[in-house]
Amino acid sequence: MKILRTPRELREAVREARLRGESIGLVPTMGALHAGHVSLVQAAKRDRCWCIVTIFVNPTQFGPNEDFSRYPRDEAGDLARCDAAGADAVFLPEVADMYPPGSATVVSVRGLTDHLCGPARPGHFDGVATIVSKLFSLAQPDRAYFGEKDAQQLAVIRRFARDLDFPIEIVGCPTVREADGLAMSSRNRYLTPEARQRALTLSRALHAAEARFAAGEREVATLAAEIARILAEGRPTKIDYASIVDAETLQPVAGRIERRALVAVAVWFERTRLIDNVTLVP
Ligand code: PAF
Repeated sequence: MKILRTPRELREAVREARLRGESIGLVPTMGALHAGHVSLVQAAKRDRCWCIVTIFVNPTQFGPNEDFSRYPRDEAGDLARCDAAGADAVFLPEVADMYPPGSATVVSVRGLTDHLCGPARPGHFDGVATIVSKLFSLAQPDRAYFGEKDAQQLAVIRRFARDLDFPIEIVGCPTVREADGLAMSSRNRYLTPEARQRALTLSRALHAAEARFAAGEREVATLAAEIARILAEGRPTKIDYASIVDAETLQPVAGRIERRALVAVAVWFERTRLIDNVTLVP
């Protein structure tokens, strides 16, 4: 497995892989890798890609009061996990390499960021879209792999990739869960055992909504009430949102669910904000 530290090294490794006739698969991450990330590498390998994992805690997607400085960093553990998962290369740039002095360009996707995490995390998706578009430009992958747990992020990336004509297939991969249903997240490690137990209400609430929907319930108000009831059982510190939105536009659904919808929640337990979602397909 190649370790690449600079954009120049990344470009050179990609050039060599292309000369060998490889397809390039990109797995952008912020490190603190878990089984969800491993599933992205495995998906790239299943697609027979030469798989590059990028590990970069991107400062521009964190708000001033967010967890940038305490975000978990574990380079040795991450490299071992990438190697074991079958990655072919890992790119670990420095902040100064990705944002040299004078960097002034931001990629911003309008509309899709009006709801869900957008209002609670101003600037977050601009930071994500900007760094991912830079990684796309540097690695020029054929495919790029992202988890469906970050459903709004995935929608934003699909949209700017299309709008900016990146010839890249964006592959969404299913959320990987712990045995008890908690969606895998690098931030789960912040949870105390007690808060972790309370956090199981996220997946329980979403699962209950799915079950009611499968049994024929289509009223947003009824599903939302069931979700709110179960989330409250976890005594959350704060609920940023528990929303049912159109899966395409991410605009709130009113009345009945007639099209593919996303049920998405963002909930705080002490200082930790967790998100999760399920898709409902009529
Ligand atoms: O999902 C993440 O880990 C990050 O938002 C991403 C896509 C790597 C961009 O920094």
